[in-house]
Amino acid sequence: MSKEYHISVIPGDGTGPEVVAEGIKVLENVAEKFGFKLKFTYYPLGGDHYKATGEILSDETVKSLGASDAIYLGAIGHPDVKPGILEKGILLNLRFLLDQYVNLRPVRLYEGVDTPLKDKGPEHINFVVVRENTEGLYAGAGGSLKRGTPDEVAVQESINTRKGVERCIRYAFEYCRKRDKAKKVTLCGKTNVLTFAFDLWERAFHDVAKEYPDIEADYAHVDAICMWMVKNPEWFDVIVTDNMFGDIITDLGAMIQGGMGIAAGANINPGGVSMFEPIGGSAPKYTGKGIINPIAAISSAQLMLETLGEEKAASLVEAGVVKVLRDDIKDVAAGKMGFTTKEVGDLVVEYIEKNC
Ligand code: IPM
Ligand code: MN
Repeated sequence: MSKEYHISVIPGDGTGPEVVAEGIKVLENVAEKFGFKLKFTYYPLGGDHYKATGEILSDETVKSLGASDAIYLGAIGHPDVKPGILEKGILLNLRFLLDQYVNLRPVRLYEGVDTPLKDKGPEHINFVVVRENTEGLYAGAGGSLKRGTPDEVAVQESINTRKGVERCIRYAFEYCRKRDKAKKVTLCGKTNVLTFAFDLWERAFHDVAKEYPDIEADYAHVDAICMWMVKNPEWFDVIVTDNMFGDIITDLGAMIQGGMGIAAGANINPGGVSMFEPIGGSAPKYTGKGIINPIAAISSAQLMLETLGEEKAASLVEAGVVKVLRDDIKDVAAGKMGFTTKEVGDLVVEYIEKNC
């Protein structure tokens, strides 16, 4: 009997539904080719659902999402809803409640894609950021006093547990071992200022590194990493970092690899349910125009296939992405591709059809 995976789909806000539709088209196509089945269940979570029903994310929904094999998410964030409500209520809550403790974000310049970095090509830009995804400044610890008065005090604390930090670092080393690259893990921190949090990170890093003598354990401060991601991106193989720094450096990563339209991401719980999402957000100004680039969503679907163990299907999807970026689309930016969102999805499917 062929394997069947239950995939929960959250198309979400803005351009989310448009790009997710293309990812699903590609997934359905490779599933048929490689002889596994996919059962999709849709959840209407997001800004419109919140405005219509007042519901953000119910316990029941979390339970049923947690019972699936993987979650495929488009984007969360609505122009009519105060920033933070949906992002924290849906996206961060799911990451936390489903213990998706790694946010995996590849930064890879594909052939045919322009980078703003002069003199850098695909051979220089190919690394992965492993961002801790359940702790740090995102944990919501802190509070405010005398809010709105001249004596107001606001405290936002970064929570770093030995267990949480160690499991993320271990994931980075394991991931590095599987990558066919320089075999180097760089810890991105700020040990010269954040002397409590990154003291813990640094000690955990060196302890875990001892278990991986085949991998070089490297360290750089986050500000220097920003400089080197621009100046010498070829120095990096796997970068591991905390939640906040990971958020920031992966937007920089998305830019040096050519843009948000092709930046994929995965929220991973290695022992549980993982969630795959393009990192670009809901892009309200492009919504409904059919001009947004679906490659980030298609590459996120590829990460999903990899995580489900469907390696061959994942490789073929990636090969399709490589081909379409190299030979077909003119530019990765929304509206400049020379094709519609749907046509780009079709091009990837066409490649799969021909090469299977
Ligand atoms: C991301 C996003 C989110 C984050 C927001 C929408 C809460 O920027 O996935 O990087 O900060 O993690
Ligand atoms: Mn971000």
